[in-house]
Amino acid sequence: MTKRLVLFGPPGSGKDTQGSLISTKLGIPHIASGSALREEIANGTDIGKRFQSLINGGNLVPDEFMFEFLEKLLSRYSLQNGFVLNGFPRTVPQAEFLDAYLLKNAASVDLVVSLVVDESEIVKRLSGRRTCENCGAVYNVYYYPPKVEGICDICGGKIYQRDDDSEESVKKRIKVYGDETLPLFTYYSDKKLLYEVDGLGTVDEVNSRIMEILNDRN
Ligand code: AP5
Ligand code: MG
Repeated sequence: MTKRLVLFGPPGSGKDTQGSLISTKLGIPHIASGSALREEIANGTDIGKRFQSLINGGNLVPDEFMFEFLEKLLSRYSLQNGFVLNGFPRTVPQAEFLDAYLLKNAASVDLVVSLVVDESEIVKRLSGRRTCENCGAVYNVYYYPPKVEGICDICGGKIYQRDDDSEESVKKRIKVYGDETLPLFTYYSDKKLLYEVDGLGTVDEVNSRIMEILNDRN
């Protein structure tokens, strides 16, 4: 089974939801650049302070900074036995950086799964999303509410709404995805690594579609 994959898709397509599930099922690390950046903001680090308004406004952190950040993030993990990457690469230079990093570490990207979700569903999912500030579990007030309002089912932590889920930021993130990230489609389809997966349906339905591809790819 293929265990070295990148999850790709517009904001709200389910990357975190599916990334966590795949990570648990396959026992591989789930590495998410967005969560790592939000942790910097929550901890009030220099990085967090520097990029907070840019991230909350829905813009990308510039590549020249992301290379250093991603290198540090990736170095915390052993990648040979598998990984699920979420939120990066997000630009063609980031994909080239990732290939070079993995090559140095005797690994490679074996599969890119792109979750396809239309814009009206994205807006609905993001307006209803809530996240646990302690363990990062993702909920949705319309589809997957926590059992007790405001409290995480898993760890009892407080759940909150992300600052970049305002209507204006969501619009911006969708545009940035089209402008900066969609060119990666060509990058990965040229390498015959790209698989598009229907991201609509229940979380379990979407997950089964992904697991089938991972199984088929060996
Ligand atoms: P990031 O955190 O990566 O955000 P994103 O790409 O906008 O994606 P989201 O996290 O909003 O959505 P998701 O696809 O993870 O969906 P989720 O599973 O939560 O990046 C945030 C920011 O950080 C960027 O804008 C940028 O500023 C910066 N950044 C990060 N990486 C960077 C990089 N590499 N370079 C530069 N800048 C970077 O699901 C969404 C909701 O839908 C949830 O409520 C969930 O419960 C629900 N849901 C999920 N699946 C289903 C389903 N099947 N049916 C119904 N509801 C569902
Ligand atoms: Mg996410």
